[in-house]
Amino acid sequence: SEGANDAKNLKVKLVLLGDSGVGKSCIVLRFVRGQFDPTSKVTVGASFLSQTIALQDSTTVKFEIWDTAGQERYAALAPLYYRGAAVAVIVYDITSPESFAKAQYWVKELQKHGSPDIVMALVGNKADLQDRREVPAENGIEYAEKNGMFFIETSAKTADNINQLFEVFFVESI
Ligand code: GTP
Ligand code: MG
Repeated sequence: SEGANDAKNLKVKLVLLGDSGVGKSCIVLRFVRGQFDPTSKVTVGASFLSQTIALQDSTTVKFEIWDTAGQERYAALAPLYYRGAAVAVIVYDITSPESFAKAQYWVKELQKHGSPDIVMALVGNKADLQDRREVPAENGIEYAEKNGMFFIETSAKTADNINQLFEVFFVESI
């Protein structure tokens, strides 16, 4: 059914936040279409996609995904997208300490202004670029633990951990 969650049809409103270029749109494209775009364009404003997954017991989970724009000029729009979200996915790029700092900024913003029961995950993307890594996994793990968040490293390029990332929220939202 449309509307409120019931036993068979769950809905999860999810917002992605993080610095421009960390791979938010690529993560969504990988999850929704199974594709990777090496020439992905910067997002303007935000884009909306949805994806429904079926579980073994015939329950379905519809993810309603707001993929926000990471460029600074769009930062003021973010509340429009995270306000109604049950889940926030905060993404950084493991090759960019600057993007890790920006992720922490978003965590603080959501702690102040997000829904008090919002579920947050910290995601270190571009895990395929191990030789260019500048943010140790331990730093992500430690920060996430301190802030009561899930943590996972993903690669939209290789598809590593992309489905696992979304599955975490399904389990959490039941
Ligand atoms: P904004 O829309 O400006 O906020 O950026 P974004 O976070 O949506 O970044 P986007 O998904 O457009 O990806 C930016 C660049 O990183 C593109 O060139 C992608 O191809 C590349 N990229 C994204 N994910 C990965 C990944 O997992 N590995 C590698 N190697 N490159 C990636
Ligand atoms: Mg984008």
